[in-house]
Amino acid sequence: MNTATAALQTHSQHTPHVAGDEKIRISDLHAFYGESHILHGIDLYVNQGELVTLLGRNGAGRSTTLKAIMNMVGRRTGSIMINGRETIDLPAHQIAWLGLGFCPEERGIFASLSVEENLLLPPDVRSDGMPLEEIYQMFPNLAERRNSQGTRLSGGEQQMLALARIMRTGANILLLDEITEGLAPVIVQRLGEVLQQLKQRGLTILLVEQNFHFAAPIADRHYVMEHGHIIEEVPQQQLHARQDQLNALLGV
Ligand SMILES: Nc1ncnc2c1ncn2[C@@H]1O[C@H](COP(=O)(O)OP(=O)(O)OP(=O)(O)O)[C@@H](O)[C@H]1O
Ligand SMILES: [Mg+2]
Repeated sequence: MNTATAALQTHSQHTPHVAGDEKIRISDLHAFYGESHILHGIDLYVNQGELVTLLGRNGAGRSTTLKAIMNMVGRRTGSIMINGRETIDLPAHQIAWLGLGFCPEERGIFASLSVEENLLLPPDVRSDGMPLEEIYQMFPNLAERRNSQGTRLSGGEQQMLALARIMRTGANILLLDEITEGLAPVIVQRLGEVLQQLKQRGLTILLVEQNFHFAAPIADRHYVMEHGHIIEEVPQQQLHARQDQLNALLGV
């Protein structure tokens, strides 16, 4: 063993195991659409198995943060580590292969395709995606509707399909944008149960949410954004004590 290898081994033995647990680590992220400078130096991390929310008022930059992770903004600078790997210079089509599943606000269900065709369409990003049978167990409504066209689905069914489709690809880091928006309370509750199940399977979830009552019981930590900055980080244990402060920040 040469000295450099020995030094490396000693180093790794004494370095706390941090990087391996971090599925997402963003440092000094700036994002631009054309000339518009939207994100102004975002720092955040999400550990393996955590569910973390991005809260904020309209236009705060929450969707832009998720899009920036996927390299779907005009331009981005800074650092975005996924599974310990720097991705800031990776093209968009390679980023999903690191195990990322992005559910955009508009859901992206193909109206002319059936439920099952929608499920089978996106390419696998990892090898151990959820088999169709298991998906249909987790989402019994989709099993009933497996031959229905996308257009025939209710908003809630479309949202379940959007989530299920990501699970099918094997993604284990989920970026979810306002998945409860416009849905009936009973569907919102069901989505909460689904996210709990995904968390129990060890998935890592970064969730943009307007519905704080939905997010609060299932999240481990919260970030609050304003004008393209992260202005607060609130662990779940402090949520109760800081409720008034959060309400003021979020305008609820
Ligand atoms: N494609 C775009 N081109 C130019 N500006 C954009 C674009 N998309 C968003 N913006 C601007 O970036 C800012 C942040 O928008 P973003 O969509 O990230 O907000 P948000 O926090 O998701 O809020 P909401 O979803 O309620 O609008 C806003 O000022 C918005 O107008
Ligand atoms: Mg948004």
